[in-house]
Amino acid sequence: MVRISPSLLACDFSRLAEEVHTVEAGGADYIHLDVMDGVFVPNISFGFPILSSLRGKTSLPFDVHLMITEPERYIERFAEAGADIITVHTESCHCVAQTLDRIHACGRKAAVCVNPNTPISDTYAFLDECDMVLVMTVEAGYGGQKLIVQTLEKIDALKKERTRRGLHFLIEADGGIHRGNAGAVAAAGADILVAGSAVFGAPDRRAVIEALRSASAEDGSIQ
Ligand code: DX5
Ligand code: ZN
Repeated sequence: MVRISPSLLACDFSRLAEEVHTVEAGGADYIHLDVMDGVFVPNISFGFPILSSLRGKTSLPFDVHLMITEPERYIERFAEAGADIITVHTESCHCVAQTLDRIHACGRKAAVCVNPNTPISDTYAFLDECDMVLVMTVEAGYGGQKLIVQTLEKIDALKKERTRRGLHFLIEADGGIHRGNAGAVAAAGADILVAGSAVFGAPDRRAVIEALRSASAEDGSIQ
């Protein structure tokens, strides 16, 4: 069964804790937190205080996606703020292997991420150390974009590489995912779907999370 990680980027920030509660009650598996610094990506979102203030409000794991330059400078602080999974981009991290080690040394799960134009093979040197790999299905930086269909080939290739090497990391897809394409993303090999606009744009969070799960189980076509 595919897992769902709603991205808070699309929620009502004036009601953060309530928004988290709606997706927890609706059956979400994680909370996806998009940290943007205005340098690695053009947009700025939020940082440590948001994580630490929400940490006591939910028991869901925090799936923290760092879209920042030199994420290695902040690993311990994100761990202390409550991150359970810490994802770094290969494009912005100078020393990916050491950073994954540092994440593990903090007792957290470690993941790497690539943007749509970065070959998925750029992650292959690190797969032995990864608990998860995040494949961007849109360009990192903004919610509400359209999924780039060609990125599904990267998910498929990554899944084959995982099988070939007998590894067990999870594959997460992020960006532009909704009930009309969730089946295709899951069929390509994603274990976790991030969804921001699709989840927080829907009045009934349980219904949309269930719809994403059942679309993933049933339908591999893009609508
Ligand atoms: C984009 C972020 C995504 C985004 C997903 O840079 O990494 O997590 O918020 O939002 P939607 O589902 O609206 O594309
Ligand atoms: Zn994200």
